[in-house]
Amino acid sequence: MDDSLRVTLQKHGQEHLFKFFPEMNSRQHEKIHTQLREINWRELETLISTYVLNTPENVIPPEISPAPYFPAVPKNEEQKEKYRIALKRGSELLRKGKVAALTVAGGQGTRLGYDGPKGTFAITPVKNKTLFQYFAEKIIRTGKKYGCPLHWFIMTGKTNDSHTREFFRKNSFFGIHPSFVHFFTQGTMPSIGMDGKLLLESKESLSLSPNGHGGTLLALKLSGSVAQMRKVGIEYLSYFQVDNPLVSVADPLFIGLHFLEKSEMSSRMLAKTDPFEKLGNFCISGGRLNIIEYSDMPKDLAEMTEADGRLRFIAGSPAIHVISVDFVEKLTEGGSLNLPWHRAEKKVPCIDADGNQITPVKPNAIKLETFIFDALPFAGKTMILEAKREDEFSPVKNPDGVDSAVSCVRMLVDKDVRRLEKAGISVPKKENGTPDCVVELSPLTFLDDEDVVAYAADKGINDPERGEKVYYA
Ligand code: UTP
Repeated sequence: MDDSLRVTLQKHGQEHLFKFFPEMNSRQHEKIHTQLREINWRELETLISTYVLNTPENVIPPEISPAPYFPAVPKNEEQKEKYRIALKRGSELLRKGKVAALTVAGGQGTRLGYDGPKGTFAITPVKNKTLFQYFAEKIIRTGKKYGCPLHWFIMTGKTNDSHTREFFRKNSFFGIHPSFVHFFTQGTMPSIGMDGKLLLESKESLSLSPNGHGGTLLALKLSGSVAQMRKVGIEYLSYFQVDNPLVSVADPLFIGLHFLEKSEMSSRMLAKTDPFEKLGNFCISGGRLNIIEYSDMPKDLAEMTEADGRLRFIAGSPAIHVISVDFVEKLTEGGSLNLPWHRAEKKVPCIDADGNQITPVKPNAIKLETFIFDALPFAGKTMILEAKREDEFSPVKNPDGVDSAVSCVRMLVDKDVRRLEKAGISVPKKENGTPDCVVELSPLTFLDDEDVVAYAADKGINDPERGEKVYYA
């Protein structure tokens, strides 16, 4: 072993990591050496003492008030006019190729319990398209609609990167020109045992996990993606998560308002359905926009209501943003970015001191992550636009129940039914009002309501039959 590395490990109380070195071959040495050399030991030691050996007190920003937002439907004539101009501006930016789609797909998807990158999970109700294919088709149609193909940046994690790339290659990039799909990989953080010692996944490898979606910003910079964006004139990023197929991949109104408001980072908000819904809460503190995690929001604030009975902190975050490339550059200047860390207790499979495999039954480790929304307070100007939940948000977090594959499929059908009905198509319903058929609209033809209405008027769309499964392409 390299002597300087041995000294470093000893200095930081991590000498257990070289216990298996004598029995390793050179390939194995190289693997763990590379991982150990990439660690900023001084920073890690501070993090271990702050977040692992101690549990930091939950400090919420002082004097918080609810964040203002633009409503989904404009409230008055002045706002209507603003939305009209914003829509025009957003469309122009799309036409000029100033906007790229940005999908974060580096997570581990542990709750879903699916073996493979989450984007390869089949989600659509009739054709069983994967999340990646569904987004790809929306991106293709967006490009066609605005007469300018959209670039698509996809963040992967170290463990799912090659599988993700292979999936795209095998599927011929779903019809997007490969030069318009850009993968970049986020950083990792070691999993840390409750005693402050780093865990080994095997004798030759640390247990590493992705460093949270906050890692997107630095990864964009360090991977050269920002430089690439500059080269082709991209100025705005339409950010969404890989597990939310309902989302508009590039909403012209949202992009246009971001532009008009001179915002550096903008967010969509949803009206929370109850005080403790698992969404981050948009708040203003010291004139800056913050998101307070649902788990950190004090009960009395979460439950506070206005005179009309509505929740005072009504605005929840569905993790949909527009981010200016200038802002990414500003934040990551000098190749570093300090977002706050969040700790989570997790069950992390590892090996013990004798090299035996352990599958923990209770949390044995702390994982540290940063969150993208913690960049909001750094933005000089922000903007929030309300979203209609049923149109924009149905995350696939769990196999069933709340926020699951099952609830998402239902919402996809409901959304397509609403679109068909807006175009005058009659959809059979059950007694309880839910559709008595399964429909799926291909995003390649039907990106938005406008597309469905135009198609119905021009070519006609057949009414679905009771009990039928219909794919409209
Ligand atoms: P989640 O926080 O829901 O995590 O990610 P997850 O990994 O998908 O699922 P669980 O918590 O293990 O069950 C929200 C979005 O952020 C991305 C995910 O891929 C998902 O699109 N993400 C999360 C990253 O890209 N990197 C990360 O380090 C964490």
